Amino acid sequence: MFYYPGLINRYKEYLPVTENTPFISLGEGNTPLVLSTTIGPSIGCEKLFFKLEGCNPTGSFKDRGMVMAVARALEQKKTRIVCASTGNTSASASAYGARYGLKSLVLVPAGEIALGKLLQAMAYGARILAVDGSFDDAFATVRSLVEIMDMELVNSVNPYRIEGQKTAAFEIVDTLGEAPDFICIPVGNAGNITSYWDGFKTYYEHGKSVNLPRMMGFQAAGAAPIVNGEKVDDPETIASAIKIGNPASWGKALKARDESNGLIDVVTDDQIINAYLRLSREEGIFCEPASAAAVAGFLRLPDLGVDLSDKTVVCILTGNGLKDPDVSEKQATVEIEIVDHDVESVLKLLQNH
Ligand code: F0G
Repeated sequence: MFYYPGLINRYKEYLPVTENTPFISLGEGNTPLVLSTTIGPSIGCEKLFFKLEGCNPTGSFKDRGMVMAVARALEQKKTRIVCASTGNTSASASAYGARYGLKSLVLVPAGEIALGKLLQAMAYGARILAVDGSFDDAFATVRSLVEIMDMELVNSVNPYRIEGQKTAAFEIVDTLGEAPDFICIPVGNAGNITSYWDGFKTYYEHGKSVNLPRMMGFQAAGAAPIVNGEKVDDPETIASAIKIGNPASWGKALKARDESNGLIDVVTDDQIINAYLRLSREEGIFCEPASAAAVAGFLRLPDLGVDLSDKTVVCILTGNGLKDPDVSEKQATVEIEIVDHDVESVLKLLQNH
């Protein structure tokens, strides 16, 4: 029987583990890389892949970094973890906290996080503080709090988070046998683009790949501080996960962009929704709006002067569509039809089609 031991065990030689690091796991990582059937070919790219990070245990890529950060917290004998979150980090922190006996405290912007994510934090038994302000406000508060209270901060400013998230880049190279030409990735607090770039560099330095990808990051047009070159006080986008006006890893994202000869650009909410709907209806992949920003960005690449012929591209689909039922319901064009339960009634209804 093949038993997948989890990320820390699988990639221990590339991660900051010591003899005291517990090899904890909820089965994170090892996510599918799925070939696009329509979206890639529609703009002449036959080798577009989707990395389905929504298949992680709490439905987002955050579990990769969280398992490492929580292992570190346990190693340090911490008893409490804390984060600010647009939702996914809080879901992940709460899950690992519950499993490994840590008290989890999460601060979220009141009324701003997707229902599924909030329900996850509630289900896992975290203490949840909804703050009257933005994610950036909640994050600033958490940073002050850890100066005063003995709690492990598990946002992506925690270097162990970044280390754990690098494993997604390792998996892509392990699966494709080389690094792709391009990575398309949504950018919020900018930890993930930082991690991927670090991960590809690590593998390159160890001779596991002979090439490096260009990092193509995308922010929502109403929450695009990196693209605009200034903080956004009141960020606005349907993609609540990346509704961030002052990213913590801003400088590192610029470094990833510049070192990789990549770009960070914007996608509008309409472009995000178009990609979101195409993913579910044409490709059978239901991701959350922030993830669709990667695909919206991919679809812009020809307009941005990028030649995709013979190129391999991986879009990082960071979170599962079930997390945000409100957006999904609003975008639905399918109506649920009420019918009596006998076959005649069903047949009668189907005759109209
Ligand atoms: N996609 C999803 C689904 C996310 O939840 C996030 C970030 C991102 C993309 C952007 O990644 O911040 O590393 O640039 N979510 C954080 C949270 C902020 O609190 O869950 P990033």
